Amino acid sequence: MRKLIAGNWKMNGSLAANEALVRALLAGLGQPACDVAVCPPAAYLAQVQQLLAGGAAVALGAQDVSEHEGGAYTGNVSAAMLRDFGVRYAIVGHSERRQYQGETDLQVARKVQRALATGISPIVCVGETLAEREQGLTEFIVRRQLSAVMALNAARLADIVVAYEPVWAIGTGQTATPEQAQQVHAALRAQLKAASAAAAGVRILYGGSMNAANAATLLAQPDIDGGLIGGAALKAADFLTIVGACA
Ligand code: 13P
Repeated sequence: MRKLIAGNWKMNGSLAANEALVRALLAGLGQPACDVAVCPPAAYLAQVQQLLAGGAAVALGAQDVSEHEGGAYTGNVSAAMLRDFGVRYAIVGHSERRQYQGETDLQVARKVQRALATGISPIVCVGETLAEREQGLTEFIVRRQLSAVMALNAARLADIVVAYEPVWAIGTGQTATPEQAQQVHAALRAQLKAASAAAAGVRILYGGSMNAANAATLLAQPDIDGGLIGGAALKAADFLTIVGACA
């Protein structure tokens, strides 16, 4: 399975910083052994689309997509609008949105549906909090989050990407060990496999303090099919090292 390394820039960047970052990525990328994507803030999609134009090496992703097709939803961005800017992936259900915007499993499932209907691959984020892990609820939580998406999108599962992002590992420098991550990825794989043979081939990315130093051991796990990178995606050299770790 070809791995995917996606950078989630979160609410960071500026016209000048984005340009420097993308130019450095394109200059250093060569022929990557994996698929590569960057997910800038919505305000910069047009800029980054232009910077990437002509090079097929890096795909464009969004950090969210509306669950609605269009209309009176102030502040939302529809899947069709993202498509207009060449967006190939959309992160959906990131824990920061579940936490700060109160996104529910059902909303996440509907966002996945809208993305798929528009030809965008959703990167569906699942993950437990530290309290949930300490209570032994990790697999219960991630299975519940994924099953909401699977129930509403049963016929299209082959076109999704899943990202396991333990909430306690995001932005904390406290990465899941390769064994901890692999265990959850294997559970998610089993859940997908039970749905269909095609779903068994869905890429399951790891996210949460993945960096240039730990990427290779995480990516060597049998069920880790790539990474969703936050902080380290803002530094070209670090992001390129992570991409290189796919080889
Ligand atoms: P960090 O890599 O900064 O921990 O963020 C991970 C993440 O949330 C990617 O979506």
